[in-house]
Amino acid sequence: MTDRVPDFETLLLEVEGELGWLTLNRPDRLNAMSATMLDELVRAAHWFDDHLDVRVVIVRGAGRAFSAGADIRAAGATGSPSAPPPGSAPWQARREAGQRGLRMANAIEQMRAVTIAQLHGYAVGGAFLLAVSCDLRVAAEDTVFFIPEVELGIPLTWGGVPRLVRELGPALTKELVMTCRRFGAEEAKQARFLNRVVPALQLEAAARELAQAVLAMPAVPVVITKDQVNAAAEAMAPARTGYLEGDVLLGVSADEAAQEVRRRYAARTFGEEAKSGGSGSA
Ligand code: COA
Repeated sequence: MTDRVPDFETLLLEVEGELGWLTLNRPDRLNAMSATMLDELVRAAHWFDDHLDVRVVIVRGAGRAFSAGADIRAAGATGSPSAPPPGSAPWQARREAGQRGLRMANAIEQMRAVTIAQLHGYAVGGAFLLAVSCDLRVAAEDTVFFIPEVELGIPLTWGGVPRLVRELGPALTKELVMTCRRFGAEEAKQARFLNRVVPALQLEAAARELAQAVLAMPAVPVVITKDQVNAAAEAMAPARTGYLEGDVLLGVSADEAAQEVRRRYAARTFGEEAKSGGSGSA
């Protein structure tokens, strides 16, 4: 490694030899995924891709959660990762907002380095999809997962449905997405979503141990294996071409009834009225 690790507003990148760390870094917002964070995740993925010497990257969250998912409190059209309502921004800007999550998931999934999601606290909605875009997943035993998009009045987008079908199967995907119920690490492990579940205090050590096990293997067959598995998974249920979902999101989230659902959700969750233009987007 000769060049400096870049600075980001919402992420922290670190490198220790062949091991990289990508930390979501908005702890005061439980690492809610803003438009800036989604764009920076794409840039961070590309930065790691440019550094062949970093062979494994651990993706984690600063503070008490991996991430509470899409930033549903972001104000205004450009501050939200989600689809802002018509009239609030030019058409092209709104379309871009609808595509951000898919671009993030695709960039993470296609990283050359092996990615390990290190999960604790909460992994919600879009953050669950970030985790599903990683190759391997380790969670603290008290991690709580849920996928609240439907309760927010929008469909799950960001290429999430095909990725979840691949990992969890159709019936469990339908149940978790349709009911938005919370589930824990043990259930996620039984559903084969997680590789390891460990006590919270052992989480970082467990992620490191898994990283070291991969790093102990020769580099080229490891990356070929990643490509092979990703190609087979993409053939099972294509996820990378889900760009139309972002356009669907534009339409659905503009609906008045959906906006009312979202306001009620924000009031229930944060005890306040949702700001106009903010909505979940994963
Ligand atoms: N977007 C923006 N801000 C968020 C957020 C989100 N998705 N989730 C949490 N935050 C903020 C809260 O508003 C709060 O900020 P404040 O201290 O300025 O009031 C801070 O992060 C801590 O969240 P809080 O709700 O107080 O923590 P909690 O431990 O009581 O609850 C959750 C944690 C994850 C259960 C709860 O925050 C939640 O349900 N968040 C929304 C999850 C969601 O619907 N995400 C969209 C998925 S696509």
